[in-house]
Amino acid sequence: MDTIDALRHRLARVDRARQEAERYAESKTRALYEANRELTEIKEHLEELVASRTAELQEARDLADHTNATKTMFVATLSHELRTPLNAIIGYGEMLSEDLTALELEDLAHDAQRVLGAGNYLILLINDLLDLEKVEAGELGINLEEVALDPLFREVSEIISPDLAANRNRLEIEIADTASTVITDSTRLRQILHNLLSNACKFTHDGLIKIVALAELRGESLYLIIEVIDTGIGIAPEDLPRIFARFAQANATISRRFGGTGLGLALTRRLCQRLGGDISVASKPGVGSHFRFWIPLDPPLES
Ligand SMILES: Nc1ncnc2c1ncn2[C@@H]1O[C@H](COP(=O)(O)OP(=O)(O)OP(=O)(O)O)[C@@H](O)[C@H]1O
Ligand SMILES: [Mg+2]
Repeated sequence: MDTIDALRHRLARVDRARQEAERYAESKTRALYEANRELTEIKEHLEELVASRTAELQEARDLADHTNATKTMFVATLSHELRTPLNAIIGYGEMLSEDLTALELEDLAHDAQRVLGAGNYLILLINDLLDLEKVEAGELGINLEEVALDPLFREVSEIISPDLAANRNRLEIEIADTASTVITDSTRLRQILHNLLSNACKFTHDGLIKIVALAELRGESLYLIIEVIDTGIGIAPEDLPRIFARFAQANATISRRFGGTGLGLALTRRLCQRLGGDISVASKPGVGSHFRFWIPLDPPLES
């Protein structure tokens, strides 16, 4: 009887333990179910959030694209509208200046030449702005051809010679044998060089300006490296990161002292990139500046 009682007692304990275990299992299952439901809710919420953020981003991008396209159109139209009357101003300015010179009215001829100079400056500015818009909109086509560097350098130095003489600077050109020709867009290369040289002439007095061309192997590809080095006023280290941005000049006194709008280097960098390279600068105030740009020496002609 004792044994039976003991067994019964044990059975009751086992039963209680089983019931407890079942209750425990049930409560855990319920907790798991709750957790799962919460997770599903969070997931759905996150998915909704991601979808709505993606839509917002897409909308912002569309708007930015649209604004950019509108701006490009605006600049293109405005440039065209400005160029037509400007050409008339320049044309008549030239005639007037010649007539006044012929009449020996030197003072008046001088005034007419100033009108002419301002008109020509505005045309250059408009062209720079338009080119910049085109490169940024990916609309600037390039024509690859074989370009001999020596004649191109001489041509650009010929154009720049009044600027060179204005500040009594000397120009030296050095072309390595391995870099005598390059396959690139000659108009754009001329433009890059012209911008760099005109800066060098502007910011250097009684100094030396050097153009050095050499070939360099980078990875698997050969690059043409062109350096424009001057012994001019230089650029302070804190101003260096800014100078390639559009409308950026080293500091507020530059435009007062030297003129310009700060578009030249922005366009120059874009053009270097469009030709498959880039540009960098090193400079020391009071010592001079060293601009260095590179483009592929021998890119496939069909690209
Ligand atoms: N060779 C240089 N020596 C010293 N400072 C330079 C030189 N080249 C550029 N800079 C600095 O970088 C700035 C930006 O040059 P960038 O050619 O873009 O503009 P800019 O010459 O002032 O005007 P723009 O070229 O539009 O007529 C210049 O204003 C000048 O402060
Ligand atoms: Mg400039």
